[in-house]
Amino acid sequence: MKVRKAVIPAAGLGTRMLPATKTVPKEMLPMVDKPVIQYIIEEAVASGIEDILIVTNRAKSAMDDYFDYYPELETRLNQAGKDKELAEVRQAADLANIFYVRQKETKGLGHAIWRAKRFVGDEPFAVLLGDDIMRAEKPVTKQLVEAAEKYDASAVGVQKVSTQAISRYSSVKVDALEERIYAVSDMNEKPKPEEMFSNFAILGRYVLTPEIFDILEQVKPGYGGEIQLTDGLKELCQKRRMVAVDFEGRRYDTGNLNGFLEATIDFALDHPGTGPWLKRFIQEKAARM
Ligand code: UTP
Repeated sequence: MKVRKAVIPAAGLGTRMLPATKTVPKEMLPMVDKPVIQYIIEEAVASGIEDILIVTNRAKSAMDDYFDYYPELETRLNQAGKDKELAEVRQAADLANIFYVRQKETKGLGHAIWRAKRFVGDEPFAVLLGDDIMRAEKPVTKQLVEAAEKYDASAVGVQKVSTQAISRYSSVKVDALEERIYAVSDMNEKPKPEEMFSNFAILGRYVLTPEIFDILEQVKPGYGGEIQLTDGLKELCQKRRMVAVDFEGRRYDTGNLNGFLEATIDFALDHPGTGPWLKRFIQEKAARM
């Protein structure tokens, strides 16, 4: 089993980040000096992915433009001797083979993934949610790909969350296989504490086998009236082996304001251009609070 393709669903309406996301896709909001989606594409590439499909919608063409060449801008940067900026602008366009498909109606994450059926064909593929940035020594998608290849299985990335927080995620039923890797036999979406299987929540990264497409075709609208990926995964894990990887790394949900601000502060503190200044700024502010 070799994972060469990835799908990035990025067609959500971003209602938790309004009004900013009314016209700017949340995936294009700047995380210090790069849009959120660039970090996600970089993770896919660093995990050995060659072809990437972004699922977009009619309001998100800024993403296709960003990963394209921009001759007028590049000529101007070249003439001005701005070599660093020129290299950065070019590098974004040359990151990977990027393809696009539109989700014509916003019918949920499961429906967005189903739109990738023709692109994926008959091979396993990774899924990286377009608003979840991961920071890890070994890219999180790579951790999942390795486990999926080792067990010839699909894989979901999980971490433990509090019982109070589990109702925001999907909870998985697990049995230990080895350190950090578990067999998955069931799951449920946004459970109440008394319904949860475990504190392990699925967090934004998956490796799926193509059987998921036939399953998603049959899935009925679930939580929130949307076609839920979890409802498809619940069936997939009963038909074919699935593992949960308790991945090493920190996840930032940039699709809500608090998560976005946490990520911005952490990334800006670590950025050589902004880190030392921001640290002083925060210290001065904190002293006056
Ligand atoms: P989210 O629920 O986090 O995104 O979906 P959203 O729907 O944009 O968020 P809010 O609640 O309105 O703020 C998880 C991922 O699935 C994608 C989103 O773009 C995000 O990457 N998604 C969701 C789709 O591609 N299509 C959909 O119909 C729904």
